[in-house]
Amino acid sequence: MKVHIETMGCQMNVLDSEILRSLLASAGMELVDDALSADVLLYNTCSVRDQAENKVHSHLGRACGKKANGREIVIGVLGCMAQRFGTELIKRHRGVDIVAGPGQLGRLVELIQLVTDGQGPQVALDSSRNKTHADDVVEFLDHYRDPNRCHLPGQAYVRIMRGCDKFCTYCIVPYVRGPERSRPPDDIIEEVRRLVDAGVTQVTLLGQTVNSYHSGSTGLADLLSRLDTVAGLKRVRFVTSYPGDFDRAIFQAMRDLPKACEYLHIPAQSGSDNMLRAMGRRYSRGEYDDLIAAARQTVPGIAIVGDFIVGFPGETQADFDASADLIRQSGYRNSYIFKYSPRPGTTGAKRLADDIPEDVKRSRNRELLAVQQEVSLADNRALTGQTVEILVEGPSPRANRQPNSQNQLVGRTRTDHIVVFDGAKNLAGQYANVKITNATALTLFGQL
Ligand code: SAH
Ligand code: SF4
Ligand code: F3S
Repeated sequence: MKVHIETMGCQMNVLDSEILRSLLASAGMELVDDALSADVLLYNTCSVRDQAENKVHSHLGRACGKKANGREIVIGVLGCMAQRFGTELIKRHRGVDIVAGPGQLGRLVELIQLVTDGQGPQVALDSSRNKTHADDVVEFLDHYRDPNRCHLPGQAYVRIMRGCDKFCTYCIVPYVRGPERSRPPDDIIEEVRRLVDAGVTQVTLLGQTVNSYHSGSTGLADLLSRLDTVAGLKRVRFVTSYPGDFDRAIFQAMRDLPKACEYLHIPAQSGSDNMLRAMGRRYSRGEYDDLIAAARQTVPGIAIVGDFIVGFPGETQADFDASADLIRQSGYRNSYIFKYSPRPGTTGAKRLADDIPEDVKRSRNRELLAVQQEVSLADNRALTGQTVEILVEGPSPRANRQPNSQNQLVGRTRTDHIVVFDGAKNLAGQYANVKITNATALTLFGQL
């Protein structure tokens, strides 16, 4: 049986698809890149914004259309949208056979089997947030992953926690990914060892609020210390941090541990206290500023990355200006900027009217991007002339072959700066020292 998996959404989904590929392959199924040749089409979906969901609906519309025209395929919807819509997906798209929540990946082989045996559509959802955490052990399927199936050569995502308890008023994640649960540190260390044995040298620890990680007395700083002792591992990153109750010991760990990278993704969402309050973020602008100042003071050369939402209900020009001001002041290496999208079921969508017109959202989005581009350009230019160590990912996506039979490659520094340079293809997964010769807002260019 040939299976194709289409992955949308965040790193959590990328990792879940990796785990799923391993599980399906060990059950004898063949994973194919080409959707047209597949017998089973699986969509690992995201609900974070309306746009992400619309994309899936149109994929499903097309796939179900082909099925109605006689193609025999099994169609499955997995992940956050599956959890949010449940059986409704089967009613809306005749032809969908499987709906499975993010904690149900371990059952997928069985669900596909039931469908091909003629048992009809299968729906497997995660238990509601209020239930006990009895199924947690089953949910941490991460160690079943084949260490040779990572998203990039020499790099791996490692989940250290699941779910979220913060309930920011705009966000669907706590509803679809369930309550916050941390994975025991021994399991994490063992998984990292296995990955390193298979050639991985850089791991990115994943959690929705990764700095809240705690298992018994082990917090994120302790976990970073333990990972620092894993022989053969070179770099450790973690995403995404939540700016409330941030343990400053994490900054000391980043400064003192050779493997902990000087990289912090810590979304502010807004620079205005009014908006932060309405968003249910549990920190003020002043506290956020202090945190960033502490990070810069403790960790020399740290790169900080943010997220912003523009057009949240009630956002005035002054609120928006405060976000632009925060970007200028923070010196972010990069920011991800999103237009507010009301998510049904969240307190924001229930209590606050989506009152900022689409064209205002669009122009604020553009404006904030432009401010960030200036800041990114200054940040990147400061690196020109320096020699940096990069981990090579592989051919640059826009690789145009060079006449001298060299290839345009792309790699990343410890601070996650993107560097494009010419080199041999077999450098993928290796470390190289590159001298930075040129910079744009998005990319550094250099020479080996
Ligand atoms: N756990 C991460 C964020 C997960 S969602 C954190 O707390 O930082 C990724 C990003 O999507 C968020 O940082 C936010 O900027 C954006 N986002 C989430 N819900 C959104 C919504 N309803 N509309 C627009 N952007 C949203
Ligand atoms: Fe969503 Fe807030 Fe949790 Fe991040 S911290 S996943 S934005 S609810
Ligand atoms: Fe999207 Fe789910 Fe991730 S909603 S951002 S795929 S946790």
